[in-house]
Amino acid sequence: MSKESFAYRLKSTMEKQELKQVDIVRAAEQCGVKLGKSHISQYVSGKATPRADILHFLADTLQVEAAWLTGIDEPDAPAIIDDTPQQQINTPVSGGTNMREFKKSTKLDNVLYDVRGPVVEEAARMEDLGTRILKLNIGNPAPFGFVTPDEVVYDMSKQLTECEGYSAAKGLFSARKAIMQYAQVKNLPNVAIDDIYTGNGVSELINLSMSALLDDGDEILIPSPDYPLWTACATLAGGTPVHYICDEQSEWYPDMADIEKKITDRTKALVIINPNNPTGALYPREVLQQIVEIARRHQLIIFSDEIYDRLVMDGEEHVSIASLAPDLFCVTFSGLSKSHMIAGYRIGWMVLSGNKRIAKDYMEGLNMLSNMRLCSNVPAQSIVQTALGGHQSVKDYIMPGGRVYEQRDYIYKALNDIPGITAVKPKAGFYIFPKMDVKKFNITNDENFALDLLREKKILIVHGNGFNWKQPDHFRIVYLPRIEVLENAMVKMKDFLSTYRQ
Ligand SMILES: Cc1ncc(COP(=O)(O)O)c(C=O)c1O
Repeated sequence: MSKESFAYRLKSTMEKQELKQVDIVRAAEQCGVKLGKSHISQYVSGKATPRADILHFLADTLQVEAAWLTGIDEPDAPAIIDDTPQQQINTPVSGGTNMREFKKSTKLDNVLYDVRGPVVEEAARMEDLGTRILKLNIGNPAPFGFVTPDEVVYDMSKQLTECEGYSAAKGLFSARKAIMQYAQVKNLPNVAIDDIYTGNGVSELINLSMSALLDDGDEILIPSPDYPLWTACATLAGGTPVHYICDEQSEWYPDMADIEKKITDRTKALVIINPNNPTGALYPREVLQQIVEIARRHQLIIFSDEIYDRLVMDGEEHVSIASLAPDLFCVTFSGLSKSHMIAGYRIGWMVLSGNKRIAKDYMEGLNMLSNMRLCSNVPAQSIVQTALGGHQSVKDYIMPGGRVYEQRDYIYKALNDIPGITAVKPKAGFYIFPKMDVKKFNITNDENFALDLLREKKILIVHGNGFNWKQPDHFRIVYLPRIEVLENAMVKMKDFLSTYRQ
């Protein structure tokens, strides 16, 4: 980064004045300036430059000249800052040539993905300085000692030489056949092999399914809290995510009245995440039936993200909502990242079911986008059959005595033992979404809470707002680490919260 660049001058001035990104955000809040941490991160990393008004705010806050901050020292040099965010800007470089700079698309302006956002960036900065961080922020099983079943690794290695070419766009026949049989076990109605699409993780298919459906302004109902990729992809596709509340008082089940209230003429679809990330809720059949009833009455597509469906505890049964809605068009998502602990292989799928006649055109769109990406990762597809058939090693984890089960019981109890913290017991997955007594801790900003915890106790969690939860009163913990590690984290958190006031 050149010393003449805006990013360099902003970063070095902030460092000199010992101002963190969050301090700038706070100052902006106080001045009524709309400026998020993600914007500042982009500025200091040189990925974006601000509009003129934001530049002047930054200059005033840092008590420097705006022109100097831009990185232009010559008095009559052209202004590099442009009022229109997406326009190219010209920055003189040392040789005097005007260099074109590139800004990110404004389509990203309202996109949030804080699971890997500014708090994580701060953690990375601390790690760079040698600090060891306890990461309770990301649902990635492998680093916590959850290994891929040997049979899966062996079978992939055996097939690698046969996976060198592209597969069919939707995926290998053997993989889709295995997924189809899985769909039959889950009673998904009217599913043919052509209704199954493999993807580079469920993530790719969430993006694809939203892009194929949403026109500008189309509304889609998404839970709050949600797995934020849903909201991000709906936004990126030009749609308007409308969040319905999941009710903590009722085991975090969707609030039907709230869903009803938020349906308009423009609502096209409804998303559920079951079992849920971040709450760990598992929706019983009656709850699913009520959702189907609403979707039926308002003619909505149902998207059901069921990636945690094999991580259900306490002898409960997972019901696929599509099995209750043969007359509606449903898209069900799952994959191997969580149940088979192979998040890194990148394999997920989506299954279209029910009334496909009403979605012919949409399916054409899905096929078009699926063809455009050629196919998903073929070596990963090659082990779907192995993974879905035979012994399911994940079952050992979710039974009493198993790691996920015991860690869940531990974290649930430990969190509820902290004064000012309450948590609903998760029934599935490996996340818990505790509530903080905001009055007791005087919390008004949950991201700041996450940053304070990180800086003081070196524990990384994701604040509730990162899951499109509007009040600043929740955070998510991933309870994948072993109990000894969780114990250490809980002792530190209890200590931190015994005196914390924001
Ligand atoms: C609810 C939910 N859906 C989808 C994904 C993405 O999974 P994949 O690894 O298959 O892309 C995640 C990952 O954490 C998730 O929690």
